[in-house]
Amino acid sequence: METRHLPTRTAFLGAAQAARLVARHGPGRCLQGLAQAIEADFARWPDFEKSARIAHHSLGGVIELMPVCDEQDYAFKYVNGHPGNRLQGLPTVMAFGALADMATGMPIFLADLTLVTALRTAATSALAARHLARPGSRCMALIGAGSQAEFQALAFTELLGIEQLRVFDLDPATMDKLADNLGHAGIAAARITRCASSREALDGADIVTTVTAAKRRQAVIADADVRPGMHINAVGGDGPGKTELPVELLQRCRIFVEYPPQTRVEGEIQQLPADAPVSELWQVITGQAPGRTQDDQITLFDSVGFALEDFAALRWLHALARDAGMLQPLDLVPALADPRDLYRLVRDAAHLDSRA
Ligand SMILES: NC(=O)c1ccc[n+]([C@@H]2O[C@H](COP(=O)([O-])OP(=O)(O)OC[C@H]3O[C@@H](n4cnc5c(N)ncnc54)[C@H](O)[C@@H]3O)[C@@H](O)[C@H]2O)c1
Repeated sequence: METRHLPTRTAFLGAAQAARLVARHGPGRCLQGLAQAIEADFARWPDFEKSARIAHHSLGGVIELMPVCDEQDYAFKYVNGHPGNRLQGLPTVMAFGALADMATGMPIFLADLTLVTALRTAATSALAARHLARPGSRCMALIGAGSQAEFQALAFTELLGIEQLRVFDLDPATMDKLADNLGHAGIAAARITRCASSREALDGADIVTTVTAAKRRQAVIADADVRPGMHINAVGGDGPGKTELPVELLQRCRIFVEYPPQTRVEGEIQQLPADAPVSELWQVITGQAPGRTQDDQITLFDSVGFALEDFAALRWLHALARDAGMLQPLDLVPALADPRDLYRLVRDAAHLDSRA
């Protein structure tokens, strides 16, 4: 069996360094790398001990813990979702996570995952769409132009060949921000159409990505606007009582999910009976279940975000940061000269204090 070198100190990557790493590597290459890492881990699905995430709700939002492990590594992510946070000057979604060694419990890596959550969500969406969207899809409607939107747009242009984006957000300022950021990422303004309604955005689209935030049941697109052959990538409905699609539309779709026990509680399918048929993404990736089988099917990826995506993302980020020399040592847990002499820490600290 391969023995691996275990660090004696936890490595840390903060938000600014994570952003530097993504900028240096390029968002497109990050999305490619993440899609590969996520696909590889979904392909070995049975290796993982999985559970639905643990959610704690308040009036305005939710805080969630997302653990998963295989024989070697343990990972968890902390993530929140508070759609009204903008009024406090805070983002809707913030995240951090850790990797630990299963054999010893040693925390190996602690990192900001806010930017990486947006990237891994978009990479997973594009990965699903490769199997579910009609081949030759070139136009995507994007409903919601907030924090996640640029990453969805980039994933679908970089990984799926989307050429045209048709965007709608209730707040026009977010569409300016989106166009400006996508211009910086090399997507010309001529490829982006700002729309006055979701109906207008869906007109001529092959793929529809919904990425809105509201802690309630809403229908951000109308059933009547969805034509046979479309693929829907529904990202923003990801908690109990928080949905984006009308139930009549769900009844017309072939539905694909990450982890059914979690999605049945959190996804669009919470609106359907508990035994409504769904296919699992990992089975499609491994060829055990079909993806799209007919051009006129309406396919739906009911994305809620699953811990395995963060497991893959943390390992990808750790390797990238290590290779770039960006990891910082973090005094997260003590390094003891004698592993059974924890009290020594108190004596050493008292000694240091007395000399200060
Ligand atoms: N599935 C996943 O893995 C995953 C991962 C991360 C975030 N999310 C979810 O994605 C959503 C978006 O996150 P964000 O960080 O971009 O939020 P955000 O608050 O930055 O942006 C949300 C945008 O949606 C717009 N909006 C709200 N209702 C709308 C409507 N009916 N029509 C058009 N636009 C509307 C708002 O004006 C806002 O600009 C959240 O609900 C979040 O929980 C899901």
